[in-house]
Amino acid sequence: MTAQIINGKEIAAKKRLEIAEEVEKLKSQGITPGLAVILVGNNHASQTYVKNKEKACKELGMYSLLIEMLEEVSEGELLAKIEELNEATEIHGILVQLPLPKHIDEKKVIESISPLKDVDGFHPINIGRMMTGQNAFLPCTPYGIMVLLEESDISISGKHVVVVGRSNIVGKPVGQLFLNQHATVTYCHSRTKDLKFHTNQADIIVAAVGIPNFIKAEHIKDGAVVIDVGINRNEAGKLCGDVDFDEVSEKAGYITPVPKGVGPMTITMLMYNTLKSAAESLNRK
Ligand code: GUN
Repeated sequence: MTAQIINGKEIAAKKRLEIAEEVEKLKSQGITPGLAVILVGNNHASQTYVKNKEKACKELGMYSLLIEMLEEVSEGELLAKIEELNEATEIHGILVQLPLPKHIDEKKVIESISPLKDVDGFHPINIGRMMTGQNAFLPCTPYGIMVLLEESDISISGKHVVVVGRSNIVGKPVGQLFLNQHATVTYCHSRTKDLKFHTNQADIIVAAVGIPNFIKAEHIKDGAVVIDVGINRNEAGKLCGDVDFDEVSEKAGYITPVPKGVGPMTITMLMYNTLKSAAESLNRK
């Protein structure tokens, strides 16, 4: 079997058009969705991500505010800035780009963001709301994965989903979103014994381990849906995922490529969450 490619770039473009239309509607009601991004220090990858977020905001007609802080900024100064943004009426979403310098407590920073503006979906209140199936901001990469499957007409109820990786940002929440949609979920991680035994049971496999080409054809069953969250560089410096695309795409039913798979969905869902926050702020007026 040769897998059908799930084209994240195309699906993201379609979703962005829908979001842009909703932004126009909100603007006609006097609200421009606004996203504040705080970047601390000069991590090169973070700078690139942040630039892409600003660009996406502009393309969709949203207001974007970039706040750059020096690597040496104190935790107190950062918390004071977040407090100011929590109160700012033109800002509907606040994102603090991670990782933060070591002298700053990441958990404390995330918890200082108003849950009503937590468009990353990292605040424990939003995580708790997601776990109990309540209205919440869903973390962007996991949410983007669910949209990719929905747009590809892949059903989830009753399927066995195996998530490889257990990060707070991707692995843990994506398993929860699948569970919310009635899948049977198995989590695998670095201490899992006999990984292959588990992954071979998967109707849907999500690879989020951060190791280039880690998942091979022998890990998957014929026709499985394979979602690759990895963004790595191989020995030749070429962008690659956590899945060995060349061999797995010969066996899978569906597969997301890297690039142009899950990646474009992350910023798209951030834009969606910012729109949602702005719309909900209107309802609270
Ligand atoms: N760093 C890498 N990915 C993310 C993300 O999705 N949100 C934030 N805030 N920081 C990140």
